[in-house]
Amino acid sequence: MEEQGQRDPQIVLVPCPFQGHINPMLNLGSILHSKGFSITIAHTQFNSPKPSDNPDFVFLPISDGLSYSDLSSKGIVDFISCLNINCKEPLLESLTPMIDEKQQLKELPCIIYDEYMYFAEQVAHLLKLPSVILSTGSAANLLTYYAFPRLQKDGFIPFQDDMALDMVPELHPFRFKDLPFRFKDLPGASSENLDALSKLIASARDTRSSSAMILNSMEYLEQSSLIQLKQQCRIPLFSIGPLHKTAPAPSSSLVKEEASCMAWLDKQALNSVIYVSLGSMVSMDEKELTEMAWGLAHSKQPFLWVLKRGPPGSFHGSESTDSLPNGFKETIGNRGYIVNWAPQNEVLAHRAVGGFCSHCGWNSTLESISDGVPMICRPSFGDQRVNTRYICHVWRVGFELENDLSREEIEGAIKRLMTGKEGEELRQRAIDMKVKVESCIKKGGSSYNSLNELVDGLFSS
Ligand code: UDX
Repeated sequence: MEEQGQRDPQIVLVPCPFQGHINPMLNLGSILHSKGFSITIAHTQFNSPKPSDNPDFVFLPISDGLSYSDLSSKGIVDFISCLNINCKEPLLESLTPMIDEKQQLKELPCIIYDEYMYFAEQVAHLLKLPSVILSTGSAANLLTYYAFPRLQKDGFIPFQDDMALDMVPELHPFRFKDLPFRFKDLPGASSENLDALSKLIASARDTRSSSAMILNSMEYLEQSSLIQLKQQCRIPLFSIGPLHKTAPAPSSSLVKEEASCMAWLDKQALNSVIYVSLGSMVSMDEKELTEMAWGLAHSKQPFLWVLKRGPPGSFHGSESTDSLPNGFKETIGNRGYIVNWAPQNEVLAHRAVGGFCSHCGWNSTLESISDGVPMICRPSFGDQRVNTRYICHVWRVGFELENDLSREEIEGAIKRLMTGKEGEELRQRAIDMKVKVESCIKKGGSSYNSLNELVDGLFSS
């Protein structure tokens, strides 16, 4: 791409420093790099991605002044608000010399920022640069953000427990329990603080001076939500997902992946393994861990279980193999494999994996659907409930596990997914979805076309 005296146009990416946000941003970086842009990742020092894993990118650390103890003491909402305050000046200072250099070369960079890193838009605005938002969640989740002021004005929020199963007015297909607005569920939240949550949601849905929004979604998956979102946000939308399938980043894992589980998977029968992982932020407490352990053991199904030993950004204390009940390891023998962190995309693509027990973060949801794996949903907070509603009710590729289940109920759920007729139907629908998702990123598909339009727009910005 580089010609004499000419450099590739630059794009600065500003990810939000949590695994579920870093992954899609780095995937986007890889895609844009393959299209001829040079990529700078302006990242916080907190949860910094590893430059050595991504030699194609330039890494620009921004001082944030925050630590893991701030995360657990403040809770996630306050933590994100502090990031936005602390990082603005450092980003401005780091980018100013680059702009001078670029102006000489008549090449202006564009800043693409995670929707929760809204300080980056203020920096872009000050530097007179175009900016674009990356929304790392689903379009449906963003629609709930747009509905929030109306629901609050009409007195529906905070909703009472006896309304949990009522349908939300004008927000099909959600019941109140599916909405992402329960502050007390958020990691680190110590009390109900609707005001702080309301501010965060308002900041995430505000497009400010940004010229477009990129979504890690696709028309096939969320057509109706995308149409509504286009009307609400009033800037061009580019749904170009699933990003991890278009151009996987070399590695964006903050924790070392235990690749040894792949050799274990190779020895298992087709569709026999249930994969259990609650992503990077959710952990099980000791009681749930014990019930899950015995549920898995008694199901007699092979399983691969991610039990985190305190990865960065984990809030509920770290799970540990030390907390596993006595006699569990002897009972399961080689039928189960436990890792601290798995190469999840490879795991879900493996022929032996026939089901995913997940917290339903948006990345895990997309990854499971893209590989045709049906799900048991165990949502915890935020958009995980929104995604669960879609998985179970709209796409019908999974069912929900209620909280505080006994080992017998967990065993029953695993058998229902892995061996029952219902599980077979869910799997078939998931496989059908995989094929349709693949066609979105193939030549002529909606995400393929949308990506080309985005790239044309970025080249001319
Ligand atoms: C967070 C929120 O919890 C989620 O609801 C939101 O949609 C995104 O931000 P997280 O909880 O980490 O994300 O879940 P998820 O979105 O599923 O992202 C986790 C990522 O980590 C996935 O890309 C997954 O492939 C990866 N992962 C997870 C691994 O690589 N190995 C593992 O063992 C577990």
